[in-house]
Amino acid sequence: MSDPSKITQKQSGFYRILKYIVLLSIVLLLVGSGHQLVTNRRPRIAILGAGMGGTGAAYFLHERLAADIHVFKQKGESIGGRAHVMEVDGREYEAGGSVFHISNHYMMTLSDHFGLRRRSEPDAKVGIYDGSGFSYIDTGWPLLKYFKLMYRYGMKLFFIPSYISSMLDKFTVIYEYQAYGYTFETIPEFLTSLDPFFLNMTEMSTFTFLKNENYPKELTDELITGINRGNYGQDCNLHGFVGMISLCGSLQDSLRSIQGGNKVLAEKMLQESQAILHNTPVTRVRELKEETDIYYVIDTLESDPSLPQDNKFDFVIIAHPLELSGVQFELLRQKVSKPVDREFQVTIATFIQGRINPEFFGLEDLTQVPDAILTTELVNPRVDFSTLQKVIPVDVVNADDVSKYLVHDDNTVWKIWSRKPMLESDLDLMFLSRRTVVSKSWYAYPKYKPGQSFPQIVLEDKLIYINAIEWAASAMEMSLISAKNAALLVEENIRGRSQKLRDKVPGSHVERNEL
Ligand SMILES: Cc1cc2nc3c(=O)[nH]c(=O)nc-3n(C[C@H](O)[C@H](O)[C@H](O)COP(=O)(O)OP(=O)(O)OC[C@H]3O[C@@H](n4cnc5c(N)ncnc54)[C@H](O)[C@@H]3O)c2cc1C
Ligand SMILES: *[C@@H]1O[C@H](CO)[C@@H](O)[C@H](O)[C@H]1NC(C)=O
Repeated sequence: MSDPSKITQKQSGFYRILKYIVLLSIVLLLVGSGHQLVTNRRPRIAILGAGMGGTGAAYFLHERLAADIHVFKQKGESIGGRAHVMEVDGREYEAGGSVFHISNHYMMTLSDHFGLRRRSEPDAKVGIYDGSGFSYIDTGWPLLKYFKLMYRYGMKLFFIPSYISSMLDKFTVIYEYQAYGYTFETIPEFLTSLDPFFLNMTEMSTFTFLKNENYPKELTDELITGINRGNYGQDCNLHGFVGMISLCGSLQDSLRSIQGGNKVLAEKMLQESQAILHNTPVTRVRELKEETDIYYVIDTLESDPSLPQDNKFDFVIIAHPLELSGVQFELLRQKVSKPVDREFQVTIATFIQGRINPEFFGLEDLTQVPDAILTTELVNPRVDFSTLQKVIPVDVVNADDVSKYLVHDDNTVWKIWSRKPMLESDLDLMFLSRRTVVSKSWYAYPKYKPGQSFPQIVLEDKLIYINAIEWAASAMEMSLISAKNAALLVEENIRGRSQKLRDKVPGSHVERNEL
């Protein structure tokens, strides 16, 4: 006789398996019906904008999913958005997003992936101009430069590279998280998961941060203000996270740009994504509900025959700043209103080919004029500009060729960043002679205020906003990080799984957002 208890054990084992099979089929059925759209046809995704963020999102989506991707861009605008080149005397120059840091993993690995060559920025002689003269000018000798800097700004100066490097070490962990598929829904979650103090830094001005850390006032007012005026057109009143991360480029030989222009990367990503490109901007996104399906219908400025006939999109990715957007949203669950406290900083790029006037800068001869001039906040300046520097055409990448462009003659091309347009009378003062002048005005990047609110990234579960990240810091790499996150969020939604950074990193779920 067999032991009856064993039989029941065996039976119960069998029934348990059966139960699992039944449960599993129910789950599969449910999952299947819940994602009908996905199983019936490929998910359709609209991306609004063809800058680094929009084209990056198309690329990362294509890499991970079989989807129909539609990218919309403004008519007559080139792919790359703020990564943009302008022509001066038959050569092209970066007129927007110009350089990136070697720790920018996506800019580096993607340019490698597409076989694009990169240029190192030349070791230019830098000066800091205060409106009447130079408070600091580099000397050609590295050792002398070192002593001059230390003499002017004190030993504390040398804490900056190590502080920035440690910020970068913490920051670059995001690439590991993203490689494992972790997503974030808000900027505070993103920052806090890398280092809780990053969020604190957004709550104070760069001035306050540097003062708390006992940096001397001259260092803040001259060198660090000069760099931030150059990178963001703003003084050290911008929040501490962006103000400090902006100093990365001051690390030795750390900046790169892509041959042919950084926009070439955007072109390549778009091409590889096999997305359909629409040359007309989106004017309205309407959310509709049909039985259990929710989808988005899109209106464009001009009618577009390449739009899908039923005009139904499963996901919409916004890849431009909503602060500057003409898109209207009619949503069922959310209200997207134009934020009132968030403005963009105007920066004007002006290119001048000609001979600079050393006297304007209080210098005796041409050879004394630095290759790159940073400025402090000028009080009643004769000419108000943020930076003035010699530039090198985007096709030049060899180090030997690059240095040739640092000479002074009538063919030298200078680029000015300024908050207001340069007047002819301004240029008369600054240049002895000039041939070509071209300019472009940008709503360049956010005006950063300490303690500012952050936009949401996930406006609805299928409506994702890439450019929310610009309020932490605006850079081509930041748009790519946010684009990767957008692709991961879409994938998460389709596959019905959830891998949130805030669950992975305890304490990174911080509420400080608004739409
Ligand atoms: C002067 C300047 C200097 C800079 N310097 C640097 C630098 O050295 N390094 C760096 O990393 N970053 C720099 N930046 C910042 C960097 O360029 C941006 O952060 C980055 O390029 C933003 O990319 P994006 O794709 O998110 O947005 P964008 O490049 O702005 O792309 C969005 C696109 O969407 C389009 N669009 C808007 N509305 C619609 C619509 N309704 N439908 C369809 N399309 C629409 C826009 O016209 C635009 O072309 C600089 C920016 C400027 C302006
Ligand atoms: C950061 O801010 C939080 C919340 O305001 C605070 O509790 C914390 O002490 C701050 N951390 C540091 C290191 O200042």
